[in-house]
Amino acid sequence: MPAELSPIEKAKFVSAKRASDFVETGMRVGLGTGSTAAWMVRCLGERVKNDGLKIKGVPTSSRTAALAQSLGIEVVTLDEAKWLDLTIDGADEYDADLSLIKGGGGAHLQEKVVATASDRMIVIADAAKKVDTLGAFPLPLEVIPFGWQTTKTLVEETLVGMDVLGRTTALRMNGDAPFVTDEGNHILDLHLERIGNPRQLSLVMNQIPGVVENGLFIDICDVVVVGHGDGRVEVT
Ligand code: 5RP
Repeated sequence: MPAELSPIEKAKFVSAKRASDFVETGMRVGLGTGSTAAWMVRCLGERVKNDGLKIKGVPTSSRTAALAQSLGIEVVTLDEAKWLDLTIDGADEYDADLSLIKGGGGAHLQEKVVATASDRMIVIADAAKKVDTLGAFPLPLEVIPFGWQTTKTLVEETLVGMDVLGRTTALRMNGDAPFVTDEGNHILDLHLERIGNPRQLSLVMNQIPGVVENGLFIDICDVVVVGHGDGRVEVT
């Protein structure tokens, strides 16, 4: 374990390390995005370098692709891999049903495509990501740049009929400019506070023209590996 980690980084590291033990030579592995997923990619890079682990990695963002390549992990596209044995990724929130909010890093579109094309998705998270009800973390919607303000209005009107507490939406910014995803889109963050029916919300949001994908992952995650600041790990 790297020395001098804060409790939160230690929690992320131990969950990532434990999940990386599920990876075996010959596997095609989806590589998630975010600070926890970056620990997992580093753990796999160590095994590639020191233990002769041979895998094909499918990154879920340009950031993860650059990191994996820098560590000597063979990187292929999803279309080259076709189907994956396993995806390991972080999350912003998860509940008792293993439903997730993802996209805090703006990569949930590729993350959802990759996780859905995998036999198994393992989520790695520190214990603070566990919630009774999803929604305290803003729900990201990836929207196309064309007419995004109209899309935002449509989203707000649609939220009036949904089982949520808050209904404010905000265009995600990167300094003075709108944040741009790897697919060239923007992100609307929905401040909902509480999502009463994640499955229904996910279906309804994805029906709005201009919305490419929302950050709710329903029936996709199989296992959550939870890390604690004292180094304990639980597999749920
Ligand atoms: C990126 C994601 C990340 O997995 C999520 O934001 C968690 O990130 P971190 O591990 O840094 O807390 O969904 O789009």
